[in-house]
Amino acid sequence: MFSIILAFIILNHKLYQVSKKIVIAVDGFSSCGKSSFAKLIAKRLGYLYIDSGAMYRAVTLGFIQNGLIEDGVVKKNDLLENIKKMDVGFSFNPNSKLHETTLNGVVVEEHIRTIGVASFVSIVAAIPEVRERMVELQRKLGVDKGIVMDGRDIGTVVFPNAELKLFMTADPKIRAERRLKELLEKGQPVNFEEILANIEERDHLDQTRDVSPLRKADDAVILDNSYMTLDEQMVWVEKLIEERAK
Ligand code: CDP
Repeated sequence: MFSIILAFIILNHKLYQVSKKIVIAVDGFSSCGKSSFAKLIAKRLGYLYIDSGAMYRAVTLGFIQNGLIEDGVVKKNDLLENIKKMDVGFSFNPNSKLHETTLNGVVVEEHIRTIGVASFVSIVAAIPEVRERMVELQRKLGVDKGIVMDGRDIGTVVFPNAELKLFMTADPKIRAERRLKELLEKGQPVNFEEILANIEERDHLDQTRDVSPLRKADDAVILDNSYMTLDEQMVWVEKLIEERAK
């Protein structure tokens, strides 16, 4: 029993042997577990974690609230004005010890994780003006390094000089099962087919859009986590971090 407790403490509190602050870019397909992985890496290193997808989700929520999405199409009039007025950020919640996504100062963490937002986010994220604004904000967050950011274009566009780039992938059906479990636990009325269709549609849109499509950076390391636990991923990444942050 004692050794189990000790192993648990070591696994959860170990800070890697690193000497310099680096930028870690985690890109990949939807629902690959990028956020959980990136969050845990940041925690172990004492780094800032930024979920860039949450920023696109917040803009999408703002567009829905402002009536800019009609019949699945984003109305182009007033688009620029809307984007400029939208203040997307993160605020620290001392209870959960996590950063929560804010839109114009209001915490929207729960609202941006619904299937309603998920079904429009890839359309909104393909708009050049939206991407320009988000990339500008993301680069500001990374000026001092010591950051782990996950998304689709972090290693290719946002931080092309990141010291460590990871590209995550997993079987779409396994991804859909994971996402289904997560949404059902939150009490959202969803089913497997609907989730799988959304994942496949987003993969397609993300890979084929004109601006910053999802692709592996030439110098990114691939991680297929279809049959890996989070702890196994942490063991896998440890050497890479130690090498790059020497
Ligand atoms: O959680 P999940 O991986 O399903 O998606 P997310 O990271 O929350 O991102 C939501 C959507 O935002 C993605 O499907 C992309 O369309 C878009 N996105 C993007 O275009 N660029 C990023 N850097 C991050 C997200």
